[in-house]
Amino acid sequence: MIKTIKDFSFKNKKVLIRVDYNVPMDDDGNITDDFRIRETLPTINFILKQMPSQVILMAHIGRPEGIVPDKEPELRTNKVAERLGKLINMPVKKVDGWQVTSNCKDCIIMLENLRFNPGEQAKDVNLKDAFGKQLASLADIYVNDAFSNSHRDDASMTSVPKFVKEKCIGFLIKKELDMITLTIEDPQKPFISIIGGVKADKLNAVQNLLKTADKILIGGALAFLFLKVNGYSVGKTCIDTKGLTPETETKIKQYLKNPKLVLPVDAVVAPSTDIKDSKQTKIVNVDKIPDDMMALDIGPKTIERFSLIIKQAKTIVWNGPIGYFENPAFANGTKEIARIISETKARSIVGGGDSAAAVAQFGYDKKMTHVSSGGGASLVLIEGKELIAVKALEK
Ligand code: 3PG
Repeated sequence: MIKTIKDFSFKNKKVLIRVDYNVPMDDDGNITDDFRIRETLPTINFILKQMPSQVILMAHIGRPEGIVPDKEPELRTNKVAERLGKLINMPVKKVDGWQVTSNCKDCIIMLENLRFNPGEQAKDVNLKDAFGKQLASLADIYVNDAFSNSHRDDASMTSVPKFVKEKCIGFLIKKELDMITLTIEDPQKPFISIIGGVKADKLNAVQNLLKTADKILIGGALAFLFLKVNGYSVGKTCIDTKGLTPETETKIKQYLKNPKLVLPVDAVVAPSTDIKDSKQTKIVNVDKIPDDMMALDIGPKTIERFSLIIKQAKTIVWNGPIGYFENPAFANGTKEIARIISETKARSIVGGGDSAAAVAQFGYDKKMTHVSSGGGASLVLIEGKELIAVKALEK
């Protein structure tokens, strides 16, 4: 049984909290979306109220691969420390490495980007554990609230728990587990899932969802991968050819026989992804995709078809955009699906990453029951698997 922060008393304890502040920033390193930081506030405030002797936060930004970069100051944790300070109205002292030489009273300490340290993502277990042990020595209690990084076998996620006796998850991970796992395992029916995006690695999610879902609507480039396997010509559509192995092809063929699966019947096609004007697009049936065009969104007949199914749902789980929504010419399918879900009374769970960015961009995020803070991590849960860093807390 995994413990949560409610199972501990933090009074006079040194608490090390792993958060995921890998947040979007603009070219000048300014934070453009602090959703992940705000999502950790309930945990931090709950601990602070109990008068711990010290709270230390640790996080990563980007993929610096164990090197402290000369440039790229945006990879340092200074900006996220500053934003957190504003949100909790308390000083957050950023230190340059991963040591804490003196406690700071009435303030939180933020360590440097964990991924500057070669131990954080080391393949060599000894190197990883050495860094995990060093971090663990800072704390009496370790709290993992970095949901969106919990599918990563990093030192701060899976090694630290080996060296700290008292360890638990924070409110964010608890909420994500309850929302995603419990919903998929025991959904109110009808349960509809919508799977989009590009990669064939979503097939594991489809497989797991087939156990409990009544219908699975497939969108994104993934839908055109399915159609290709079904014998359609998909023109220049950017399907995941790398992911199309003999094994995945067999799986797709098997799923195509399942009446739960619903594929697009029409598509918005264009000569390229970066067209500037929607006049360059055409709507065609999926058996008429021209050889020199790519399918980049679902068409109106598909939206209608998907809409009728979504409106029946009592539970909806959505992961992956329906079209190439980054270009407004291909955003309609994703936007319409978000709008239709927002108008139902169903329990609606949206996976993190691109789908979360899309619902936020179209202004429907507050209308969903739960928008996950994690892309890869939420997909692992939708696949019905355990998160490696959560499992590490059991031991
Ligand atoms: C994320 O942003 O999804 C997490 O922080 C994990 O980052 P990563 O994909 O670089 O490991």
